[in-house]
Amino acid sequence: MSSAAFETTEDFARGMDARDPLASYRQRFYFPKPASGEDCIYLCGHSLGLQPITTRKYVEQELKDWAQFGVEGHFQAQNPWVPYHRLLTKQTATLVGAKPSEVVVMNSLTANLHLMMVSFYRPTKQRHKILVECGAFPSDQYAVESQIRFHGFDPAASLVELIPRRGESCIRDEDVELLLDREGDSIALILLGGVNYATGQVFDMARISAIGHKMGCIVGFDLAHAVGNVALHLHDWAPDFAVWCSYKYLNGGPGCVAGCFVHERHSQAWDLPRFSGWWGRDEKTRFQMGPDFRPMAGAEGWQLSNPPILALAPLRSSMEIFEEVGMERLRAKSVSLTGYLEFLLDHSTSRGFSIITPREPERRGAQISIRIPHNGRALCEELTAAGVIGDWREPDTFRVAPVPLYNSYQDVYNFVRRLVAVLP
Ligand SMILES: Cc1ncc(COP(=O)(O)O)c(C=O)c1O
Repeated sequence: MSSAAFETTEDFARGMDARDPLASYRQRFYFPKPASGEDCIYLCGHSLGLQPITTRKYVEQELKDWAQFGVEGHFQAQNPWVPYHRLLTKQTATLVGAKPSEVVVMNSLTANLHLMMVSFYRPTKQRHKILVECGAFPSDQYAVESQIRFHGFDPAASLVELIPRRGESCIRDEDVELLLDREGDSIALILLGGVNYATGQVFDMARISAIGHKMGCIVGFDLAHAVGNVALHLHDWAPDFAVWCSYKYLNGGPGCVAGCFVHERHSQAWDLPRFSGWWGRDEKTRFQMGPDFRPMAGAEGWQLSNPPILALAPLRSSMEIFEEVGMERLRAKSVSLTGYLEFLLDHSTSRGFSIITPREPERRGAQISIRIPHNGRALCEELTAAGVIGDWREPDTFRVAPVPLYNSYQDVYNFVRRLVAVLP
C-alpha cells in the first residue's frame, strides 16, 4: 500500500488489522506484561524477538527425553540429538536463499564471525584492509580489529570505514562503489551488515558482492538485522560467507544459537585455514575418535562442538512459523507496516525528532530509527516503564521495529500516540 493511502485515524488502523491476512500470527506469541497493567506495545523484535507459545513444548520434549534416555537420547530421543541441528537446515536455507549444504546453525554470531575470518581474511602486504560500515555493531568492530592485529597489521592502516556524506545518516550505494574503485585492490575483506543496526539501512548485497569480487575482495555479511526481516538470496548473490544471530527477528530466545552461510564454491576448499572441532569432522568417521581432522564438505565443516539441544529447541518453534508464513508475505506486510509508522510520524504534530532510516522501502527493513536530540534517553525510559518498548542507542536514537509476524497496525498507531505525547 502506498503512503498516499494511509490515514491518521484509529479506525484506519483497526480496518487494516481486520484485513491483514497475517493478523492471527500475533496470537502465537507471548507479549510482555508491563507492571503498569497496560497492554505492552512491543516494537523491539530487532533486539529480542518474542517467545512463540509453542516454544515451551519444544523445550519440554528435550527435557523429557533427557530424563528418560540420559545419554541414549543422542540416538533415541524423539528427535535424536546427534543430527538435531539438521532439523533446522532446510528451513534456514529457505529463509536465507541458500542451498542446505551452504548453511549451518551453530555457536554465537561473533564466534562465527571469527571462524569465518580465520578462513577468509588472509591479508597480504598489498591486500590487507577490511572494509566495514562506519557505525558497525561494536562486536564486529572489535572482532575485525582483533583479526587485523592477529595478523600483525595495524587497524589504523588496515581498517577502512564507509562514512555517510556530511549531513546524511546513511551510506549511499554509489559511495560503496566509489570507495571500492579507489581502494579495492588493497581490500582483503568487505564485511558489511546486510541491514545496518543503527539506521535500519539495507545494503545492496547482490551488487556489493559482485563489485567486491570484481575487485578481488572476499565479501562477507553480518545479517543479524537482516535475517527474518528482508528477503535474502545468498546463493545467487554469492558472498563468500554470512553470519547471523537468531534472537532478533527469528525469535530463538536470548543468546540463541546463531547461523552461518558459506557459499558452495568453498564447500570443498580443504586448503583454507580453519579453526577446527570434532563436530566439523567428517561424520562417517567422527566417532572413531581418530587423530586426523578431515572436515565435512559445506558449511557444517566449520562446526566446532556438539549442538546445544536446549538452545536449538526454541528456534525450531519459531522456524516452523516462518516456514508456514514465508518471507514473501512477511515482507509485504512489513513494507506496509513500516510505511504506516513513517506516515504517522511524518503527520504528527511534534517537531522534536527526525527519521534517520532511509525513506525508500527497498532500502530499509522493519525498522524506523528516530533521532531525538533533546532528552531522548529519559523520554524512552519513561515510555519503557509504561510498557512502550523500543530500543535506545546512544547518543540520540530510538530504534523501533514493527515486526510483521506479531505487530499490528493498532500497535503502531498506539506507539505514535504515546511517543508524541511525551515529545516536545
Ligand atoms: C549487527 C550485530 N552484530 C553482532 C552482534 C553481536 O552478537 P552476539 O552477541 O550474538 O555475538 C549483534 C548483537 O546484537 C548485532 O546486532
